[in-house]
Amino acid sequence: MPLRVLQEATSPSNESHAPQHKSGSSLFYILGGLVVLAIVLIFLYVVWKRIKRPAQTMTVASKEHQEFGKHNESAEVMKMIFSSNQQSGSKEFFSGNLRTISCFDYQTLKKATENFHPDNLLGSGGFGPVYQGKLVDGRLVAVKKLALNKSQQGEKEFLVEVRTITSIQHKNLVRLLGCCVDGPQRLLVYEYMKNRSLDLFIHGNSDQFLNWSTRFQIILGVARGLQYLHEDSHQRIVHRDIKASNILLDDKFHPRIGDFGLARFFPEDQAYLSTQFAGTLGYTAPEYAIRGELSEKADIYSFGVLVLEIICCRKNTEHTLPSEMQYLPEYAWKLYENARILDIVDPKLREHGFVEKDVMQANHVAFLCLQPHAHLRPPMSEIVALLTFKIEMVTTPMRPAFLDRRPRKGDENHPLEALSQGFTSPIYLKASD
Ligand SMILES: Nc1ncnc2c1ncn2[C@@H]1O[C@H](COP(=O)(O)OP(=O)(O)OP(=O)(O)O)[C@@H](O)[C@H]1O
Ligand SMILES: [Mg+2]
Repeated sequence: MPLRVLQEATSPSNESHAPQHKSGSSLFYILGGLVVLAIVLIFLYVVWKRIKRPAQTMTVASKEHQEFGKHNESAEVMKMIFSSNQQSGSKEFFSGNLRTISCFDYQTLKKATENFHPDNLLGSGGFGPVYQGKLVDGRLVAVKKLALNKSQQGEKEFLVEVRTITSIQHKNLVRLLGCCVDGPQRLLVYEYMKNRSLDLFIHGNSDQFLNWSTRFQIILGVARGLQYLHEDSHQRIVHRDIKASNILLDDKFHPRIGDFGLARFFPEDQAYLSTQFAGTLGYTAPEYAIRGELSEKADIYSFGVLVLEIICCRKNTEHTLPSEMQYLPEYAWKLYENARILDIVDPKLREHGFVEKDVMQANHVAFLCLQPHAHLRPPMSEIVALLTFKIEMVTTPMRPAFLDRRPRKGDENHPLEALSQGFTSPIYLKASD
């Protein structure tokens, strides 16, 4: 009986709790469902973003950039490039630097350079003229118009090469900001370097003096840029044209190598036999100039010539000088043999002062780079180490090889034969016999 009373007493309250419990659990299910839905949506969004990222990044450029998507043909090409890359499963592609590629509209570049006005012409090299330009957002750029007669590349190949070059980034390499395809026209847009190129300082009309620490900073920076191209980047690149005009300087005179990868836009033989080639012959490794043998070692040779130019502040070949001084490597070697190597230093630098040990080290490095046999030239990583840690040199360099272009009888019609005769290094002649 007391039990019944108890039951009776408790039953109404049980009934009143049941609906509450039911509504509590359905709220739990609704909330749980929402959380799961949110997780699924976030997951789908992330997956969608990852798939979409490259295409989007190509098109999210500022207003003045012509979006790839707006050019139907370009969009198709880009789609192809992306899909081929996705197939290769390269993760780096998605997280890589491709995001920064922009395709500029021709009208934008025309406006930026004031219709490619001659006043904006920075210079003209073997690949075409370069113009200074100012974009609507105020950014300064250097626009290189690739010479049409030489570049026979189709749009697809061009964009593939642009993609490759853009993915190669280092603090000592000039940044390619984007490109432009307009009918047959092919243009490359680079960041503008305030102090332009090294040639203006070491053999141009600039009266601005570069002190030793700036010069050493330039030598080391170029060495690091080359090390990256040769050894560290995912795509091994031989520059082919290391010279003072391809060393660009930012507002703090930090060097950046320009024009790397440009040969990719031109047929192999034409890049090698360009009309400008003769102009840069003094930088060219003998085995490349004579037999067309191209490797990183050709860049290392050119780097050696450049180092001597920076120390002496003169061109590598100067026919107006007395005969024994005309070829810088030859002249430097003569002084070195006579224990007078410091005589080679730029007189202005001597006036202002320089670190003798550093200059000797840089000279030694230059001679190692100028070795007649390519395999004797150290790799760039070794050169960077030698310059950075000022390691004492143990290797004694041999006499450098260089191309002697002093005119000889009957050479007029056979310039390349004249070159091979010009190998003054007995070591080289022995090796090539
Ligand atoms: N990004 C840049 N910023 C500032 N100036 C530049 C830039 N790129 C090139 N220049 C200037 O334009 C000039 C011409 O460059 P270009 O590369 O066409 O000729 P080059 O270096 O003399 O020959 P090559 O075609 O063999 O490289 C350079 O000497 C340099 O002063
Ligand atoms: Mg150049």
